[in-house]
Amino acid sequence: MPLLQPSELVVSRLGTCRVPSPLQGRGETFVDDTCGILAYATTDAIQPFLQAGQMPPAFEAAGPRSEIFFAPEALTCGIVTCGGLCPGLNDVIRSIVLTLTYNYGVQRILGFRYGYAGLAPRSGYEPLVLTPEVVDTIHEQGGTLLGSSRGPQDISAMVDTLVIRNVGILFAIGGDGTLRGVEALSREVVRRNLPISIIGVPKTIDNDIAWLWRSFGFATAVEEGAKALEAAHNEARGAWNGIGLVKLMGRHSGFIAASATLSNSDVNFCLVPEAPFTLDGDGGFLQALERRLAQKHHAVVVVAEGAGQDLLQDPDHPEYDASGNLRLKDIGPFLCREINRYFAARGTEVTIKYIDPSYIIRSVPANALDSEYCMLLGQHAVHAGMAGRTAMVVGFWNQHYTHVPIAVAVAQRLQLDPHDQTWQRVLDATGQPALMVAETVG
Ligand code: F6P
Repeated sequence: MPLLQPSELVVSRLGTCRVPSPLQGRGETFVDDTCGILAYATTDAIQPFLQAGQMPPAFEAAGPRSEIFFAPEALTCGIVTCGGLCPGLNDVIRSIVLTLTYNYGVQRILGFRYGYAGLAPRSGYEPLVLTPEVVDTIHEQGGTLLGSSRGPQDISAMVDTLVIRNVGILFAIGGDGTLRGVEALSREVVRRNLPISIIGVPKTIDNDIAWLWRSFGFATAVEEGAKALEAAHNEARGAWNGIGLVKLMGRHSGFIAASATLSNSDVNFCLVPEAPFTLDGDGGFLQALERRLAQKHHAVVVVAEGAGQDLLQDPDHPEYDASGNLRLKDIGPFLCREINRYFAARGTEVTIKYIDPSYIIRSVPANALDSEYCMLLGQHAVHAGMAGRTAMVVGFWNQHYTHVPIAVAVAQRLQLDPHDQTWQRVLDATGQPALMVAETVG
């Protein structure tokens, strides 16, 4: 992957900030616009820039500015939540509403319903008026107060809605599809020369957003996933040649499976989309499982839902969902069948207990750490919008909250790198072979 260049990290602004922030006089510590958070933390990545006499690439620091762009009294803000559910959605909505209201004195906040569909006039969904009273206890519940949906909408019609509703800042909370929507909306707003700020808040349990330490909801999803692993381990140990098999979400990236595995040192095999495997033959997964059972007579296997799709998909007839994601075939039951087939052919009795927590890990309320993170992401999103930043996502990187230009955020999907520390530590923890690809099948 080519190194980021400093020029790519310049965040768009609607104009000069001339309005004194209402936070002045409250003892607030303001962020200096020139403050940057280094994109790379290692000396070998920074060295080439220093040698060329250049400042290494840095994200703009997030936080309140002493002068802001929007006059709060006249401002209307909008919030929309898109894509699949994620723990913490309600916390972010609440944080944005409370910060806008109590810190800046914004008086009109609209919650657009059911994702970007709520901004499309043809859907007919009326926005919810959001106040501190309306959002008072929503963080105690999973899901999203506003509802959500997948799929793009007509960008021009959405911007028309923002204009008709007099929205100055739109906060779009979502994953890669939503952030691509932020990019398209920002482009249309610029094309029409409108003073509207579009700010993304990165959401996905998959943790696959680039230049973000982690997406909110991920920690809660891992915690819920780890409960399934504990159950699987107990079940596996409860039978001779018991196999506990758990499928966890993770479409293209195996971060949930990897982190749940690392949080639970009882996992013997972690199968993720980034590390292809074969089933049969010397060096394949089933042979490795057989070796493990011969040693300990039980095994725990975690599989990310996007793993092993090459074994299942018909390459000539791929199917896609409304967000353009490949519809995955179900790897869990497939593995159960294949494991049973393999051991039956060898006359070895095994007992598989299959656990699929499915949507349970993403529809629960956020845990305390995710709630804290959501509160801070929401606050920083508001500070960014009030300071007239636009076409950006609020992030957290190298221990600081950041402004990430939207083009940088959507340029690539974050995936496990089989050679990096995280995956290497998973291999250490499980003891599984680094490569489970058979050279010969049979
Ligand atoms: O993108 C987040 C995620 O939870 C993925 O892990 C999962 O594949 C997907 O959403 C499923 O969402 P849905 O069934 O709502 O399309």
